[in-house]
Amino acid sequence: MMMRMDQRQIDELVAAATEVRHRAHAPYSGYLVGAAVLTADGRVFAGCNVENASYGLSVCAERNAVAVAVAAGCRDFTGIAVVTQSNPPAAPCGACRQVLAEFGDFPVILAGLDGNLQTTSVRDLLPRAFDPATLAAASEEDPGRTP
Ligand code: THU
Repeated sequence: MMMRMDQRQIDELVAAATEVRHRAHAPYSGYLVGAAVLTADGRVFAGCNVENASYGLSVCAERNAVAVAVAAGCRDFTGIAVVTQSNPPAAPCGACRQVLAEFGDFPVILAGLDGNLQTTSVRDLLPRAFDPATLAAASEEDPGRTP
């Protein structure tokens, strides 16, 4: 069963994502994104998008927030908030959905600058993900493989 967040946790996550969004390095797109993940032990880790002159090397806010949490030893995520300037608020890109699915199914709060909130989940954003369970369900040998 997916853990739910209470209103206080949602407010805390959105506040952290809103704050870190101002530190985004987005000189090429001008599109600032802030993300914050909540972990099972109640800690919050925030990340912003970091663009690069070699555009394809840009990294989204969600993946940076996940990396900060993992580097701190926290991988048990109970929620993520993403703050964007889009209306309605933007949902994570496909690459970020895949990275979030690595860590299970949890609520995803989408927030706009006007305080507009929408709640979805990793599973809703990426049904039938290729995730750790997919690899765990693999048979050990590929019958078609020639020695
Ligand atoms: N971006 C994110 O940070 N998260 C997303 O889920 C979508 C896009 C960033 C990447 C780029 O720096 C800017 O937004 C415009 O695409």
